[in-house]
Amino acid sequence: MSGKTKWAVIGSGGIARRRTIPEGISKAKNAELSVVFDIDAQVNAEVAKKFDAKEAGSINALLDEDIDAVYIATPAHLHAEQVRVCAKAGKHVLCEKPLGMTVAEAEEMIELCKQRSVKLGCAFMMRFVAQHAEALRLIKEGKLGTPTYARAQLSCWYPPIEGAWRQDPATGGGGALIDMGGHCIDLLEMFFGKVARVGCFINNTVHDYKSEDSAVALLFFENGALATVDTFFCIPDNSSKNVLELYGSKGSILAKGTIGQAPAGEMVAFLEQDRKDYDAQQARPVRNSTMRKITQKGDISNGAQTEGQGIIIAPESVNTYQAEIEEFSQAIIDDRDPLIGGELGLRSQKVLTACYESARLGKVVEVGS
Ligand SMILES: NC(=O)c1ccc[n+]([C@@H]2O[C@H](COP(=O)([O-])OP(=O)(O)OC[C@H]3O[C@@H](n4cnc5c(N)ncnc54)[C@H](O)[C@@H]3O)[C@@H](O)[C@H]2O)c1
Repeated sequence: MSGKTKWAVIGSGGIARRRTIPEGISKAKNAELSVVFDIDAQVNAEVAKKFDAKEAGSINALLDEDIDAVYIATPAHLHAEQVRVCAKAGKHVLCEKPLGMTVAEAEEMIELCKQRSVKLGCAFMMRFVAQHAEALRLIKEGKLGTPTYARAQLSCWYPPIEGAWRQDPATGGGGALIDMGGHCIDLLEMFFGKVARVGCFINNTVHDYKSEDSAVALLFFENGALATVDTFFCIPDNSSKNVLELYGSKGSILAKGTIGQAPAGEMVAFLEQDRKDYDAQQARPVRNSTMRKITQKGDISNGAQTEGQGIIIAPESVNTYQAEIEEFSQAIIDDRDPLIGGELGLRSQKVLTACYESARLGKVVEVGS
């Protein structure tokens, strides 16, 4: 295939309308929007008009159009069936997270897409955040040393809303943990590798809907590193700075606000050139005036870095929705596997399932490979 990938959208009225269509499909160099469908016909008509797309009256009608790929952005409990229908129609599918409601559903989705020779992607777009890509590069180059500990936080204020699908596990699969913690866990696996076992608490601390509004998960990675994920639907937006902290035997990478939808936030690395002896003074001066800045890939100077100096990681920002659409479109054009394929969606589902199981049983749960 050459030229532009022709996209359809199922569930056009939420994140699709807010971000993935305007910032992703419309801006991507190798994609174009053909047709949209939403169960809410009025919303669908508005979206079709705004983005100059055809308006389908059903999923079958949408699949009859001349399209290559479908972006599914509906409530979580609908994903598996909608992926099934699209795959059977021979369309490539980029599905929002969580991929399914259970590990079995995610496995079936992957298997069916394989059988039908269509590509399956999972929309973990936070992997494309420019600072995250730079942090990953530093970790892969060994600049952090042996990974030891990480923290990822994503919280917001989400009060009770009549009929909200995220507030009922029957439609959302859970609450804060699966909805926002899923991004955190996915990012931490990107940085530190696979999680081997988890311990987790969930609670309804403030809101009394059926899904949890509070969750903290403790992760033990296969490589021995530890991490915590904290995610709440009951902390005011401006109070959660969506912290990302990555520590290793040679330093740390600390960020605020890079986990999120818009290109934002700041990230600083504190890296030692070589392992130092134990310092009884435990001195850790931080002088912003002495910080150097990395603004492009590979721009970490080889010069000696004195203790306490930080390196500001500020690469050119990337729109994550544009990046995810361009990447998936290119995978179709080049006929290769997408970077963020269904397997990562399945992986996330396995860790999340283990977390919920741990919370339910009150004990540590193995994730499995
Ligand atoms: N990656 C991100 O940045 C991000 C952000 C928000 C949501 N999401 C994910 O996107 C998905 C949708 O979340 P949202 O916040 O947009 O939800 P939403 O409720 O705001 O929007 C979902 C849309 O799907 C439509 N819909 C419902 N049932 C449908 C059906 N049977 N067929 C077609 N359309 C149907 C609704 O009318 C609505 O317009 C979820 O999987 C969520 O986790 C991802």
